[in-house]
Amino acid sequence: MNLEALKSTAVAMVGNGKGILAADESTPTIGKRFDTINTESTAESRRRYREMLFTAEGANKYIGGVILFDETLRQSTSDGVPFPKYLEGLGIAPGIKVDSGAKSLAAFEGETVTEGLDGLRERLIEYYSLGARFAKWRAVINVNDSLPSEFCIRANSHALARYSALCQEQNIVPIVEPEVLMDGDHSISRCEEVTSDALESVFRELTKHNVNLEGIILKPNMIISGTKAQNRATPSEVAEATIRCLKHYVPESVPGIAFLSGGQTSEEATEHLNLMNKMGDLPWELSFSYGRALQASPLKTWSGDEENYNAGQAAFMKRAKLNSLAHSGEYTNNMED
Ligand code: 13P
Repeated sequence: MNLEALKSTAVAMVGNGKGILAADESTPTIGKRFDTINTESTAESRRRYREMLFTAEGANKYIGGVILFDETLRQSTSDGVPFPKYLEGLGIAPGIKVDSGAKSLAAFEGETVTEGLDGLRERLIEYYSLGARFAKWRAVINVNDSLPSEFCIRANSHALARYSALCQEQNIVPIVEPEVLMDGDHSISRCEEVTSDALESVFRELTKHNVNLEGIILKPNMIISGTKAQNRATPSEVAEATIRCLKHYVPESVPGIAFLSGGQTSEEATEHLNLMNKMGDLPWELSFSYGRALQASPLKTWSGDEENYNAGQAAFMKRAKLNSLAHSGEYTNNMED
């Protein structure tokens, strides 16, 4: 393991006001996104859509890493440059989603465990040779009055730690993503309680598995009310609870934290990130690794129509820039106009 290389990749991804574009939707998931814009999902339409995002002029000012799905890692720009090579040339680290999804956890009704460890070392070796310098693994934690079980959190943390150790062995920065879902009517304090348990368990397992915390990026959810909660917490309550939780559970040796958007609107995800960075005095880079919150607007603008290609790029650049400003605490709501 080359720790210096891992550290410099991690800092390049989320330092300097930069963040990560999560464009690693699996083929079924991107198909659902394309359904919303009445666009057929084919290998070529998926390639063209991703090309629109990756080749937006100036994206490398705001984006330090892009998470790709296996298919996209093997695709190329219209000029025939493989996407990983193209991104690398712009100083954007190419990354790869390596988990094979959250599957029902046997004997634990309503819970999942993320799979994909079998053969992972060999896949990482191939992904590195194709240009990937970081990876992502997403664990999913469902919340209600009785879930999650302690066992579900432990099983997912164990898998995240095994994945992380394998990534570091292959000089690939692991993005460690334990996502506590927003789905449901739970309160913000229930989200804080479950996220605290999850983060405590994740860092315990990472340490047990000899993962070097200086060579990872944490991708957590924010501490936020469930989407169907009666009383939704305000943006400043979200920011304060999230920082309180992260300061308590995330060691200072972790170089960067990059949030998932998890179903927040694009504007909410930007505002929350901005408020947290405005609070200041943070030991880690606090950035974004958004999928929907970066893509909702360019996806809709493009709508599968070649005529809207440039407008789609402009819509993407707007979200990338505003989130970069939020990374520095310099975003204001009137910038949306
Ligand atoms: P969202 O920002 O849409 O939650 O996606 C981020 C991600 O990579 C989920 O794994």
